[in-house]
Amino acid sequence: MLATSFFSYSYKHILKPILFLFDAELVHDSFTYIGEKSENMGDLISRLFRYENPNLTKKLLGVTFDNPIGLAAGFDYDGHMARVMKHVGFGFNTVGTVTAIAYEGNTKPRLARLPMSQSLLVNKGFKSGGAKEVRARLDAKNLKGHTIGISVGSSNLPQIDSLKKAIDDYIFTFKLFAPRKYVKYFELNISCPNIRLKGAFSSIENFSKLCAAVKKLKLKQPIFVKMANELSLKESDDLVSTALKYGIKGFVFSNLVKDRTNKALVPSEVAKISHLSGNFSGKPTFENSLKLIRHTRKKFGKDIVIVGTGGVFNALDAKAKFKAGADLLQLITGMIYEGPQVIGEINQALSHGQSNTL
Ligand SMILES: Cc1cc2nc3c(=O)[nH]c(=O)nc-3n(C[C@H](O)[C@H](O)[C@H](O)COP(=O)(O)O)c2cc1C
Repeated sequence: MLATSFFSYSYKHILKPILFLFDAELVHDSFTYIGEKSENMGDLISRLFRYENPNLTKKLLGVTFDNPIGLAAGFDYDGHMARVMKHVGFGFNTVGTVTAIAYEGNTKPRLARLPMSQSLLVNKGFKSGGAKEVRARLDAKNLKGHTIGISVGSSNLPQIDSLKKAIDDYIFTFKLFAPRKYVKYFELNISCPNIRLKGAFSSIENFSKLCAAVKKLKLKQPIFVKMANELSLKESDDLVSTALKYGIKGFVFSNLVKDRTNKALVPSEVAKISHLSGNFSGKPTFENSLKLIRHTRKKFGKDIVIVGTGGVFNALDAKAKFKAGADLLQLITGMIYEGPQVIGEINQALSHGQSNTL
């Protein structure tokens, strides 16, 4: 890995100020294009960014994770960057959220930056090329040696107007990806706040039906339930207990923040985007996610696997999530604000024990 401090400085002081002059979604789409085009330069990209250390490897629920830092769902919706993300430094990367039926996404603008709050306003609403298109794209990539997960959601379209249709829609996507060897795990996304069906599966009755339908598939891959951020401890416990009844042992804490009065949000920045719908990533997600991780680990012990997601920007943030009980971490927003070298930096600090400086 090349001198990351040089890249970190250049990103923060030169590249980011330029990128942040342009529309957030345009920049993201450009990176998606460049990322896919450069997937054959994996060795060079790895030399620039990836930190390797066998001590970082973890085996959980039968899956090997080269390092504990993963790409969260929502950065690579359609799998264009599925191959390049390992070279950037991630130990695993989630594609999606993928839905059965293609959807062009909610009305633009649906992505905005809140730099003082270290957050992004997100309102993509499950923009997806559709499960068949995403699978064809991934099938065409050589993903041997990559730890890829598929985040599955229910199509965000008006025709999905009943619980049964929503569950059938999830099941379609699971069935399509289940036979693929490159799919090492699934995320069951029940917590997107930006869709028509939001909150439908936080009802235990509905969630039980979804879990029962998924269980019938006898998937070989483990499932991680993507949990909402602003759940009460009781709501979260009920969902975890229900999932466990159906043999689901993985949980991702957590998704975006809805509350516009969240303490980490700077009110003047929120006022500037008051005309936009959407919910928040980054620092506003950190504290709730931490609280849920700490509580869930204490309550459910070692038999579950917890992925800590939300507001990880550096090794200290990562260490806090591990200390609270996470087994693995995921991030998006930290990479956008700090630069892609941050994954290697965190891994390096973890393997050197530098993060014990908490
Ligand atoms: C642009 C963007 C799109 C997202 N889309 C999804 C999604 O499709 N599915 C999902 O489960 N989470 C989605 N998320 C939430 C992230 O996976 C993650 O839970 C959240 O952003 C907190 O992590 P972070 O602070 O590291 O970004 C999205 C987040 C961002 C920033």
